Amino acid sequence: MQNTSYFWTVFLVFIGLLWMGEAQECGRPQMLNRIVGDSSASEGAWPWQVDIQNGQGHVCGGNVIKENWILSAAHCFPNPNDISSYIIYVGWQQMQGWNPDETSHSIRRVVVPLGYTNSQLGQDIALVELASSVVWTEHIQPVSLPTASAEFSSDMRCMITGWGDIRDWVTLQGVGPLQELQVPIIDSKTCQDMFLKNPTENIDIRYDMMCAGFQEGGKDSCQGDSGGPLVCQVSDGSWVQAGIGSFGFGCDKPNRPGVYAKVSSFANYIQSHVGVQQKSGSSHNWADRVMVRAAQLIEKLIAITITAATIMSS
Ligand code: ARG
Repeated sequence: MQNTSYFWTVFLVFIGLLWMGEAQECGRPQMLNRIVGDSSASEGAWPWQVDIQNGQGHVCGGNVIKENWILSAAHCFPNPNDISSYIIYVGWQQMQGWNPDETSHSIRRVVVPLGYTNSQLGQDIALVELASSVVWTEHIQPVSLPTASAEFSSDMRCMITGWGDIRDWVTLQGVGPLQELQVPIIDSKTCQDMFLKNPTENIDIRYDMMCAGFQEGGKDSCQGDSGGPLVCQVSDGSWVQAGIGSFGFGCDKPNRPGVYAKVSSFANYIQSHVGVQQKSGSSHNWADRVMVRAAQLIEKLIAITITAATIMSS
């Protein structure tokens, strides 16, 4: 009888720890009052978006991927060892004005690929470690990251967000509400062909880049949106970060779509420095999630039972 209650105590403690150990779920905004099509994002719609500033003001966007890590672009940190003037604002919707839950963080270090030289040559990614962790709230949530094999295609719903210019040379006015825009992914071959149409502005779309936007122009990201996210909604409803704002030639010109660093090509790089859960692209549905969770649970239950049995028999 005593043995049985001992077993149940051990069992319940383990189950409790199991639940507490669950990571913060990624890619799911908790405030669901999003107005699609409107250019200003609604409050809490993109809770991973951060603003990166230095002494002079706004520099770039970025995203929360873990409580103490931000993903951004390498070109936002021309000198990754001189970061003392940088401040990262988390939980923002408005650039000027009050935001509930906002916190600011200084940077502990910036990790940039060794071979990075220029955004147009690729490797435009920065992992930014914060000096202090963020606290998860309705306005502050991590985005999901893709696995190395995740694919993002033109039929997915993808969005870019940022406080960058609203068109060439025109900065965001007023309280500066976070802007959002739905953009289709353009496959690399089609994108390369678009750039070839003007050989003087030709660039190589490399394996670690991806394009998104409109061949006819008119809608695009722009200066100041760099480092910010291109996120796509996968079949379980969550948002996975496909790209990082990298470069363009002017903004919203025909045959000049925005170019983004392709996050999936850095999956192992991110994993080795930060270690976060990653999601595959489109095939990730709720049934997969239930199966994965059930398998993990059964595995842990077997381990717990064996441990408990060993304790009781000794
Ligand atoms: N390099 C720019 C920045 O630092 C981003 C430019 C994006 N341009 C574009 N046409 N999508 O903010």
